[in-house]
Amino acid sequence: MDEYKIKSIEEGLTKIEFPEFDKISSDAPVFYNPNMELNRDLSILAIQVFQKNEQREINICDLFGGSGIRGIRYKNEIDGVGTVCINDISETANFYERHNIKLNDLNDIEVFQHDASMFLRMKRGEFDVIDIDPFGTPSPFLDSAGYCARRNSLLCVTATDTSALCGTYKEPCIRKYNAKPYKSEYCHETGIRILAGFVALTLAKYGKYIEVKMSHSTEHYMRLYLYVKKGPKKTDERLKNIGYISHCKHCLHRQTSKGLASPIEDVCPVCGEKLIHAGPLWLGEIQNSEFIQNMIEETENKKINKEKEALKLLNSCLNEANAPATFYDVHKICKSMKISAPKLDLIFDEIEKNGHIAIKTHYNPLGIKSDASIKYIRHILFSLCESE
Ligand SMILES: C[S@@+](CC[C@H](N)C(=O)[O-])C[C@H]1O[C@@H](n2cnc3c(N)ncnc32)[C@H](O)[C@@H]1O
Repeated sequence: MDEYKIKSIEEGLTKIEFPEFDKISSDAPVFYNPNMELNRDLSILAIQVFQKNEQREINICDLFGGSGIRGIRYKNEIDGVGTVCINDISETANFYERHNIKLNDLNDIEVFQHDASMFLRMKRGEFDVIDIDPFGTPSPFLDSAGYCARRNSLLCVTATDTSALCGTYKEPCIRKYNAKPYKSEYCHETGIRILAGFVALTLAKYGKYIEVKMSHSTEHYMRLYLYVKKGPKKTDERLKNIGYISHCKHCLHRQTSKGLASPIEDVCPVCGEKLIHAGPLWLGEIQNSEFIQNMIEETENKKINKEKEALKLLNSCLNEANAPATFYDVHKICKSMKISAPKLDLIFDEIEKNGHIAIKTHYNPLGIKSDASIKYIRHILFSLCESE
């Protein structure tokens, strides 16, 4: 191995070492991103909840190991873990993964050097948890994950190509996720739904279906925690959650329609302008309240440096669990009405007073998830503005 200046860090109960680098990039000799600590903390909570629900020893695959931090933390910090397999295509990464396993004095962690898809094809049915945390898009690896994933397992997926999923660039999204994005004010939620829809359609080829237990969009990445189950009939049933979100950029009305190839309305029912469609995407549940509540409770049992951030995010996702798809952005609506935005609390009160749901969202501090129509939201904003 080349001589590198070594850096040591600690996350949770785990210490690792890796070659120091100037800039976080895929060009570093071994990849370690401190900004993903929250992602790893949440993964520990989610996998622990999964393990407790299953009440059995679980084997985990850390498919893109890098420094080994993820797989090593899973073995070190989650109860009921059998074997962890850490895979990475890079020999240097493998060297530091082995080094860090020794540093933490751990057994039952195996290191592999394969292309991720080849590795999953070789290990069919061997894992209870598959963690896919690649550079950029997970798309090329999902087919092999669908082939490998066993019945009643957990699939954890990261995507960092948010510009594609959010629709900044349309073509890469079509290319990678076979879906048309749309860059609306709620494009991060659309992105999560496109990713979940693509996983569902990919796994369906293998007679497997997903239940989304938790999902979030944070900084430069999106993350999904999915139960994988098996059975062609239920797979067909669950695919009915695939559909489209249609958006009117004139009056900001939006609507959803389920069905992969069902006819979709083209004209906005509110103002008569043309609707823009995003999808196919997942219109089923993207936050599961019981699972998230268990993750929150699990924070008591773990040493997590990012606990405050983790709890803030988890509580927000918990609230979102029963909310409808998409959300309104108060500033965007007020701008289109040429009025200044009333206080957020007043808007929430007013929506709820009239019997509608009004829920904050982790996607945007100015976002409101509501079952009220855009016409009604505009009416509330206008009257609040008048009375100020
Ligand atoms: C984003 S990093 C992984 C970070 C790690 N999961 C963590 O939490 O720190 C991606 C890793 O995937 C490896 N890699 C890239 N292409 C691969 C492939 N086709 N198969 C397996 N590993 C690959 C890279 O060497 C790199 O270490």
